[in-house]
Amino acid sequence: MPIVAPSILAADFGNLAKDIEMVNNSQAEWFHLDVMDGVFVPNISYGMPIIDKINSLTDKVLDVHLMIVDPDRFIADFKKVGADILTVHYEACTHLHRTIQAIKAEGMKAGVALNPHTPVAVLEDVINDLDLVLIMSVNPGFGGQKFIENTYSKVSKLKKMITDAGADVIIEIDGGVGVQNASKLVEAGADALVAGSAVFNAENPEAYIAELKKA
Ligand code: DX5
Ligand code: ZN
Repeated sequence: MPIVAPSILAADFGNLAKDIEMVNNSQAEWFHLDVMDGVFVPNISYGMPIIDKINSLTDKVLDVHLMIVDPDRFIADFKKVGADILTVHYEACTHLHRTIQAIKAEGMKAGVALNPHTPVAVLEDVINDLDLVLIMSVNPGFGGQKFIENTYSKVSKLKKMITDAGADVIIEIDGGVGVQNASKLVEAGADALVAGSAVFNAENPEAYIAELKKA
């Protein structure tokens, strides 16, 4: 069964406690938290105060996805507000190996995200250092976009790379994920599925999460 990570970007920010409660009562294991800086991506979302608050309202894993330039500046701050997994973008890091080590030194799991145009091969030399690879199945910045079909073959390639290296790395998919593509993604090798609009726009979000778990 895949790990399900509802993306809070699609939650009701006027009634956040209610949506956190829904995720708490659901079969989802993680909260997916999207941090955007308006520079790396053409959008600004939320930051530490919101994550800190969510942390105080849940015991679930906080999976933080940084869509920001120069993420090294904030690694310690995200640890302080409760991040369990900290994912940075390959495209935003000049010294990726150093950044990965800094995240792990803070006691968090280290993830690297790849934009749709970035081949998985760029991670070959750090794959044994990673806890998670996030494959973007849309261009980062916004919820509710259309899933990019090339993602399946990317997941298969990454799965092979991880197996060949004897590494222990979670493959996470983010963007346009829902019950319509969940099974095919798991078949290709996905371990964790992020879903924002599909979950929060569902008539019964808790039941929808249960459907994703069945993928
Ligand atoms: C997009 C974010 C996603 C977003 C997914 O840049 O990284 O996590 O919330 O939203 P959906 O599931 O609506 O595509
Ligand atoms: Zn995300």
